[in-house]
Amino acid sequence: MQIGTSLTHCLIERQRDHAGATGEFTLLMNDIVSACKVIASQVKKGNLIGILGSAETENVQGETQKKLDIISNDVFTHTLMYGGQVAALASEEMDEVYHLPTQLQRGKYLCVYDPLDGSSNIDVNVTVGTIFSVLRAPEGVENPSEKDFLQAGTEQVAAGYCIYGPSTIMVLTTGHGVHGFTLDQDIGEFKLTHPNITIPEDTKEFAINMSNQRFWDAPVKRYIDECLAGKEGPRGKDFNMRWVASMVAEVHRILTRGGIFMYPIDSKIRDKGGKLRLMYEANPMAMIVEQAGGLAITGPDRIMTIKPSKLHQRVPVILGSKNEVQVVWDYHKG
Ligand code: AHG
Ligand code: MN
Ligand code: MN
Repeated sequence: MQIGTSLTHCLIERQRDHAGATGEFTLLMNDIVSACKVIASQVKKGNLIGILGSAETENVQGETQKKLDIISNDVFTHTLMYGGQVAALASEEMDEVYHLPTQLQRGKYLCVYDPLDGSSNIDVNVTVGTIFSVLRAPEGVENPSEKDFLQAGTEQVAAGYCIYGPSTIMVLTTGHGVHGFTLDQDIGEFKLTHPNITIPEDTKEFAINMSNQRFWDAPVKRYIDECLAGKEGPRGKDFNMRWVASMVAEVHRILTRGGIFMYPIDSKIRDKGGKLRLMYEANPMAMIVEQAGGLAITGPDRIMTIKPSKLHQRVPVILGSKNEVQVVWDYHKG
């Protein structure tokens, strides 16, 4: 596919490669694209339209919602529910599965999403994004329930994110590599700018919230200690560190120049199972990272093989450059 080709044309081209494709996935993606364009525009306007700051409400996971968390969730949900391609929806910002009103047309897909990732960064004008994962709805089920969503990451039909940074970029995988499309604001269209993204296998850059250091388990402590020891330590090289607190921004950096991102289990959050959400954050990012040649693990296990037990399940996440994640994996096995 040529640089500059629109996302819609790329999807139609791919559709041609699939005998029996009905075009429904392309239509679903068009809805996702429309929703992300609206969210991008709201994020860019910020306080010109008074949408920064807290909404003073809590989501089901006990986190205080920002006004933009709620706005983004409404935009994404409303755009997809009327599109006719989904049978049900689920979001980080909704307590339960969102069932479509009876009069609306249903489709063969389920979509789960983190409508605004990194929302603690909104008020300070730092990069945020939308993360989504597309699953198949079980055949013959008119109104899918929670158990129909509980599919392992390996079952994802597609995964992607839209990053609202200096430019707005949609990164997408349907299981045939990872491709990035930049929004041309003048014409309102995403164009292919980053075809076949691959993550460098080696890196000297790690991302972790160091304030949790005293709560980490031994394998993560060991790994970070060795990174910090630099050239003189067992790794024999100096490392750099980054922490944006927007997973979208961290994954985008890793796709661009390599790196390792970690939100491991620690004793403070052990009861919750981790910090990041399996269905809305970990699985879609794991699919993208693995499709780009990287690895995504919880510590002892590969993220995408986990059979979810509940919609809002949390998991530890360690992902990025293959050889570096492998080191952390080996420390967990050893
Ligand atoms: P969200 O804004 O959707 O709740 O996600 C924030 C997540 C993730 O994007 C980021 O990596 C992490 O939480 C940051 O956590 P800390 O504030 O604990 O560093
Ligand atoms: Mn998030
Ligand atoms: Mn969020």
